[in-house]
Amino acid sequence: MDVLSVSNRIASTQLSEQLKDALWFTPTSQSIHIIALSVVFACALLISLRLAGVGRAAQPLHIAIRKKTRFMYVGLVALLITGALQTIAEPERQFGSPAFWIKMVLIVFGLLLTWWVERSVRREPQRWEDTAHRPAWSRPYALAYVATWIAIIFCGRFIGYT
Ligand code: HEM
Repeated sequence: MDVLSVSNRIASTQLSEQLKDALWFTPTSQSIHIIALSVVFACALLISLRLAGVGRAAQPLHIAIRKKTRFMYVGLVALLITGALQTIAEPERQFGSPAFWIKMVLIVFGLLLTWWVERSVRREPQRWEDTAHRPAWSRPYALAYVATWIAIIFCGRFIGYT
């Protein structure tokens, strides 16, 4: 089954019709989507700054990263729910947009980066606590990490324009 027939099948469902006809749905869902992405991006930025050794540390790195990744996962669940419902409401708009597919790949990549750094820091908290002995890749990783989430935001906004 190709993407177009999947899109048509979703568009013909009663739920898709109801979401499309409910004038309050899209603006409400997108507002929740924007609030959730703000939480996710704020946590990703704070994790990147800590990894790069920027700013004064209020708590040990492994604790700071654990707390922030939990907030990120809650935010990502809200993004997945609102994003999935918006996709059911307008499947042709999403599936027909290259920006949507690039965004989905980047989200998986962003999740892998989050899981991996949280695991690395949790396994060697002492080594990561001392910025002088942190792995040499921690700063480039921090840069790649924040760049990934910025790219996801741009892709999200470019959906519908590509
Ligand atoms: C977890 C899975 C996600 C899904 C399924 C999803 C899906 C969507 C959909 C369908 C739209 C509406 C696009 C349109 O019709 O114009 C959208 C918008 C957007 N998404 Fe996501 N999204 C997800 C996660 C994220 C994440 C992680 C971020 C950023 C951290 C993000 C940032 C955005 C932005 C900036 C917009 C444009 C909002 C607007 O202009 O109102 N999304 N997303």
